[in-house]
Amino acid sequence: MKNTKRIGILTAGGDAPGLNAAIRAVGKTAIGGHGWEVVGFLRGFTGLIEDQFLNLDARMLSGILTAGGTILGTSRVKVNRVDTEAGERDMRDEIVATYQRHHLDALVCIGGGGTHKNALRLAEKGLKIVTLPKTIDNDVACTDDTIGFDTAIGIATEALDRLHSTAHSHHRIIVAEIMGHRAGWLTLGAGIAGGADVILIPEIPYDVRKVAAAINRRSKGGSRFSIVAVAEGAMSVEHANKLVAAVKEKTSASNGAARARAKRKLRAIYGNHAGNTMRLATQLESLTHLEARVTILGYVQRGGTPSCSDRLLATRLGATAVEMIRRKRFGVMIASDGDDVKPVPIAKVAGNLKSVPLDHRWIESGRRVDTSFGD
Ligand code: F6P
Repeated sequence: MKNTKRIGILTAGGDAPGLNAAIRAVGKTAIGGHGWEVVGFLRGFTGLIEDQFLNLDARMLSGILTAGGTILGTSRVKVNRVDTEAGERDMRDEIVATYQRHHLDALVCIGGGGTHKNALRLAEKGLKIVTLPKTIDNDVACTDDTIGFDTAIGIATEALDRLHSTAHSHHRIIVAEIMGHRAGWLTLGAGIAGGADVILIPEIPYDVRKVAAAINRRSKGGSRFSIVAVAEGAMSVEHANKLVAAVKEKTSASNGAARARAKRKLRAIYGNHAGNTMRLATQLESLTHLEARVTILGYVQRGGTPSCSDRLLATRLGATAVEMIRRKRFGVMIASDGDDVKPVPIAKVAGNLKSVPLDHRWIESGRRVDTSFGD
């Protein structure tokens, strides 16, 4: 039996600060700690499909702990539905062939929701996979934290801090749109830490009249400015009702055409974040008679140096991934569990979104300090 293992590693989905710290932790533990070989696949699962890779060595892993982005690149392909010139194709067999050609003993996939679905589809084809949870959205199921969230929440909080002084000087409402996909963790956390007056998240559909009433109450109390932190996935009650109807339509669709129509509707409802945020600002202007401005924080939240907590998390999870491979525990995500780490079956993670529970302590604390959630 050979002792030297060869493992593959890739980063997939939207990039996040801390990815390089995770690659470094896996690489250093595997190469330095065990004398294994590590193959880095480029641009996520695309690298496995097209067999594009780098043989990682100690030199390449040096100096990347603090670097943003990912030295391996990333992409958002679905392994069973890849766009090719001949239309959509299932590329899992090509990926299995690449895995075998490289004589891999295991593959480490670092990513969020889409990555876990891909990982499960490949594990079902026999690949030995260990995953690490990464996304600034913090919406991966079965883990307390995801790599990138702490840095992004820090950036969003600093932005809200800075928006306060300009909102105050001009007696304006500033509506700050924060990322998070369909979950409210980033907006809720940054909103509370940054003292937003209104926090709107996808988990709590809002009534714009209640948002305006909260702002008007502040104006009457002498604070003629307000900061509204709105998640990109937040929606009004009317919007949320349309969403429920479209989901029902999709579930009960009797044929492919009806399902495609319902899917298009769903995409349109989820789609235009910036449009929703602009509309909210316009509605608030007319309901409060204050000027409103919109700031979309966007990709700034994903860029740059990872925070201390993200470096620590990435290093703990990355080193544990290698230990799991050594113990032949495959088909698991290394989750963060308080100060500890634990393996969780990928099957429990894939397809499950971690939304903010309505009784979460952060919401409770926000309500106690008189933050409006628009409900
Ligand atoms: O999942 C991370 C994230 O930044 C979300 O917050 C956001 O909705 C999405 O990615 C943006 O994706 P893209 O990089 O494909 O524009």
